[in-house]
Amino acid sequence: MESAYFITGTDTNVGKTWATLALMHYFQHQGKSVLGMKPVAAGCVLHEGKLKNEDALLLQQHASIQVDYELINPYAYLQPVSPHIAGVNNPVDLDTVGEALRTLQSLADRVLVEGVGGWYAPINEQQAVSDLAKFLALPVIMVVAIRLGCINHARLTYQAICASGLPCAGWLAMCTDPNMLNREENIATIAKALNTPLLGVLPYQDVADFDFLARQLTVG
Ligand SMILES: Nc1ncnc2c1ncn2[C@@H]1O[C@H](COP(=O)(O)OP(=O)(O)OP(=O)(O)O)[C@@H](O)[C@H]1O
Ligand SMILES: [Mg+2]
Repeated sequence: MESAYFITGTDTNVGKTWATLALMHYFQHQGKSVLGMKPVAAGCVLHEGKLKNEDALLLQQHASIQVDYELINPYAYLQPVSPHIAGVNNPVDLDTVGEALRTLQSLADRVLVEGVGGWYAPINEQQAVSDLAKFLALPVIMVVAIRLGCINHARLTYQAICASGLPCAGWLAMCTDPNMLNREENIATIAKALNTPLLGVLPYQDVADFDFLARQLTVG
């Protein structure tokens, strides 16, 4: 069993944070201590004089151990724009993220690392999310929002993950659209097209119940 995973998705706003929180609850149900990490976040608000991001705050709240915000989110950019633009004056340095991850891994049994945007989203002028995941050398979990266009997006992202050489630990179907037609057929088509396990189908919820969502998962 891996001690950390990198959570990516087919796009921004596909359910990566919800999936990461569900996975955190899943491992907690197994009796593990769990931390979440959002190394790079664009779109922050001032909290007690520090820039903080909503996703990272959620990961901090749902962890089984309390750690400093800076370890969970070393790069917190004010503007909700691509990190290579938002972070022009403080670009992401992979070593800094790697060090923070090592500290988190020394504190908890499992660390779930949420990416930013999709697999090829730039994190600085030279590097993309894929480079960050490769540097951290983590198995990847891919979140697919089940909506029109998802088959194409799932196949493209899966191929790109495979091209990076990282192992894909599986994928999650996130039902973000309550009006999606033929949802099961779409999920079945994606499952057939990908050579990686479906870790769970997370149903649409008006209000998130992460313990319930966690019970829809099977990892490893
Ligand atoms: N299972 C679900 N049921 C209902 N709504 C969902 C579900 N999963 C996600 N959503 C909705 O989609 C939104 C985006 O989800 P989430 O924040 O997890 O995406 P993300 O990929 O982490 O986005 P970002 O790229 O901003 O980090 C949520 O705020 C929620 O409103
Ligand atoms: Mg998110």
